[in-house]
Amino acid sequence: GKTIVITGVSSGIGAETARFLRLKGARVIGVDRNEPLLTLDGFIKADLSEQAAIDAAFKQLPERFDALCNIAGVPGTAPVDLVARVNYLGLRHLCTRAVERIPQGGAIVNIASILGAEWPARLDVHKALAETPNFEAGLAFLAKKPVAQETCYQYFKEALIVWTLTQSQKWFLGLGVRMNCVAPGPVLTPILGDFVQMLGEERVQKDSHRIKRPALADEVAPVVAFLCAEESRWISGVNLPVDGGLASTYY
Ligand code: NAI
Repeated sequence: GKTIVITGVSSGIGAETARFLRLKGARVIGVDRNEPLLTLDGFIKADLSEQAAIDAAFKQLPERFDALCNIAGVPGTAPVDLVARVNYLGLRHLCTRAVERIPQGGAIVNIASILGAEWPARLDVHKALAETPNFEAGLAFLAKKPVAQETCYQYFKEALIVWTLTQSQKWFLGLGVRMNCVAPGPVLTPILGDFVQMLGEERVQKDSHRIKRPALADEVAPVVAFLCAEESRWISGVNLPVDGGLASTYY
């Protein structure tokens, strides 16, 4: 079986992805700030908002693994600095460290969001941020171009999509490692309530009406697993919505 590292493994989509991949025979090493609720093949407790903590986690991770699923994330009700660190800068650092350990044919999957769909409007800014070479430089960039609390979640999901799409070109061509995003619509997990607070009751009601119900985590997990698997070996640099058709209803 394959060895797959999953962040955010202790709740919601991450926990379900771990369960699904283990059922399919993978060896799953989880990373989270909280203890996992399910049996894993390995677990590393780490705060993924800190570069030093990510580097420390890498000391405990296997020398080689086949895929990395970046599922840890915080909602936009968290402080902007934390959203920047966990949802973008830390995630990017994880990818950069992981790609040294993932052999040709391996994959990285980053969880974005359909709320990251407005990136064309800020493409230049996101490209400039994507070009910052590391965590520290990213922080310095953001210190000069502060991001508003109200839109920080969307901003960093957009930035994640732009970084994933641009960086994946280099890694796929150069190393044979694929990298893609999955963009869920509303999913029934503990942070769904934070999205109501973030977006307002009205928007959430409207979206819920358009698709009738939020997704269950087990409707997202198999898609993440697919993007880790051989069967998706010619898919790289895409952002795949898993939203019950919600995004299509805006056209
Ligand atoms: P969740 O809150 O159930 O799980 C998030 C996990 O990430 C938790 O186990 C948490 O401990 C971990 N985590 C957060 N900050 C961390 C840190 N600093 N260090 C280590 N671990 C940390 O949320 P859910 O819904 O499973 O979210 C997973 C991903 O899906 C997130 O990136 C979220 O933004 C994204 N997403 C969720 C949607 C939803 O409606 N639930 C919609 C679209 C995207």
